[in-house]
Amino acid sequence: MWVIFSILAGLVLVPLFLYLGNPYFFKDLDYAVRAIRCGVGLQRKQKRCPSFLGGFLEKVDLHPQKAFVVFEDTSYSYGQADGLSNRVARVLSTHVQVKEGDTVAVFSGNEPVYIWTCLALAKLGCTASLLNSNIRSKSLLHCLSCCGAKVLLVAPDLRAAVEEVMPALLQQGVRVFVLSDDCASEGIESLGEKIQQASDQPVSPQLRANTTIKSPALYIYTSGTTGLPKAALVTHERLLQASMMYGLCNVRADDVLYLYLPLYHASGFFMGLCGAMDTGITVILRRKFSTSQFWNDCRKHNVTVIQYIGEIMRYLCNTPKTPSDRDHKVRMAIGNGIRADTWAEFVQRFGDIHICECYGATEGNVGFINYIGKVGAIGKENFLQRMMTPYALIKYDTEKEEPIRDSHGFCIEVPKGQTGLLVGKISGRAPFRGYANNKQQTERKKLKDVLVKGDVYFNTGDLLKIDQHGFVYFQDRIGDTFRWKGENVATTEVADHLLMVDCIEEANVYGVKVPGHEGRIGMAALTLKEGMDFDSSSTYQHVKSYLPAYARPQFIRIQEALVVTGTFKLMKSALVEEGFNPGIISDPLYYLSSQGYVPMTHDIFNNITEGRIRL
Ligand SMILES: *[C@@H]1O[C@H](CO)[C@@H](O)[C@H](O)[C@H]1NC(C)=O
Ligand SMILES: *[C@@H]1O[C@H](CO)[C@@H](O)[C@H](O)[C@H]1NC(C)=O
Ligand SMILES: *[C@@H]1O[C@H](CO)[C@@H](O)[C@H](O)[C@H]1NC(C)=O
Repeated sequence: MWVIFSILAGLVLVPLFLYLGNPYFFKDLDYAVRAIRCGVGLQRKQKRCPSFLGGFLEKVDLHPQKAFVVFEDTSYSYGQADGLSNRVARVLSTHVQVKEGDTVAVFSGNEPVYIWTCLALAKLGCTASLLNSNIRSKSLLHCLSCCGAKVLLVAPDLRAAVEEVMPALLQQGVRVFVLSDDCASEGIESLGEKIQQASDQPVSPQLRANTTIKSPALYIYTSGTTGLPKAALVTHERLLQASMMYGLCNVRADDVLYLYLPLYHASGFFMGLCGAMDTGITVILRRKFSTSQFWNDCRKHNVTVIQYIGEIMRYLCNTPKTPSDRDHKVRMAIGNGIRADTWAEFVQRFGDIHICECYGATEGNVGFINYIGKVGAIGKENFLQRMMTPYALIKYDTEKEEPIRDSHGFCIEVPKGQTGLLVGKISGRAPFRGYANNKQQTERKKLKDVLVKGDVYFNTGDLLKIDQHGFVYFQDRIGDTFRWKGENVATTEVADHLLMVDCIEEANVYGVKVPGHEGRIGMAALTLKEGMDFDSSSTYQHVKSYLPAYARPQFIRIQEALVVTGTFKLMKSALVEEGFNPGIISDPLYYLSSQGYVPMTHDIFNNITEGRIRL
């Protein structure tokens, strides 16, 4: 009796001790259980079909009548979507004559046929190359040639962009097809009618007989801060793993997702679309983000899950308050890049929405999820993950722009609570497939002999910090720090301070080169709150009180709007390029003199560049 009692007490006490040692024990456990369940589901889906179709086909079998995509008041069920993708697949196979292993480029904005086309290409064992719908001319040709696609499928509204480069396309032997009804023109054929007439019966799985989960499913273009886009190769396995993200974040089968992020990017396609197919939920698809329509759409469609990225949440917070701000059913927001202050403001204003911040790169092999919901963290370490996909935070020299190595030539892990470069061990379970036709860039992302001789890691380029509870914090992206007078300046930190100034609405901080000076000096592009002027003296007072001299923006540029990339990140490269020359910049410019911010003049500019003013 006593023995049984002891055992029972032990069983009760062990979790208690664990709990006391780790206040997040039960949430960690809950997450681990969910992860295992998702892992088991993954095996099952792979068996159903060894490609990212696995999850989708499973849901088609399970609930063919359930709404899958709702777009501009038309609803398509899972069964209909399957049928429509079969039609597209048939036309591509018989008429366009693509076959397993071919790469086919898709150039379209968010619309349902985009989804059917990607499903169709997977059904044929082809690789879809998802072109950014904003690229034109040279970039368009570059992206096409890096993936080697010989077939280009285009949406009618982007046809002009293709016609512009038609001679070059013909020369490269690229055939162009429009996806819907549209009159044909020189070199462009319309598939609309053929698709409507095709049978919606499944195509033979024989057509994709050689496709395995290791086969390439997509090319996604990553918009680097510099240079031309790179095509990251994404396998079916990677897509299936990424699609588990929703399950891990606890998205349920009865949720409704609002998807406005571009499908040509990882967050829209991997997490949004694949995540939705994986969990079998309904997607409210929108062409693009609109602050004014956002909550109306959420109310109209009973949206429960939203996805965000970069600056989106701040855009929503910046809209005028209305009495119906909390009138909606949104219960969760999944994404990455929300700042701690926006997070707090968002929840306070729009109600108790669980924010699930995630971290990961399109081509990367390591990611985190902040499943606890701790404000400001981008993730939480979990023993299970660390075991399955090892990673490390290593010391990094921002001046030399390389990891610091010890006397044996190995990298050095940073202690808990310190900032280090995140690297993910490349292995069978966490592969890095690199970029298409770009061996140099692929090699550049690899780091060798990191902790032991011969190991290879993926260099994320992100500087992170992990605290004693295992919360992961984003610190900086390499390139988002610049050095001035031998000191590191973190652009996000300077921006945070500028945002505290009353008149400043948005701030984008970067470093610019000054002739005759080492490093880069701080500059900030700002937008002002509506109806307000730039208050140079309060900006100066704030900057002087809170920032060390080397971190104070030397130049300020006032813009009507800050330019963002397709993924809603602030664009810096063009601003860096333009520098602080009043001769080429028409926006108002200010210069930090010993008295404060004064309007920039040609005289000051010349004195700086000719060395009469030392900064
Ligand atoms: C699959 O691969 C084999 C051997 O590489 C090849 O003979 C066969 O034609 C391929 N099947 C298809 C459908 O491409
Ligand atoms: C949204 O929910 C309400 C109440 O539950 C229901 O009456 C309405 O039909 C739903 N709307 C949609 C588009 O599902
Ligand atoms: C620029 O340099 C010239 C020549 O040294 C000087 O006369 C002028 O005052 C300087 N202007 C400023 C704004 O420093």
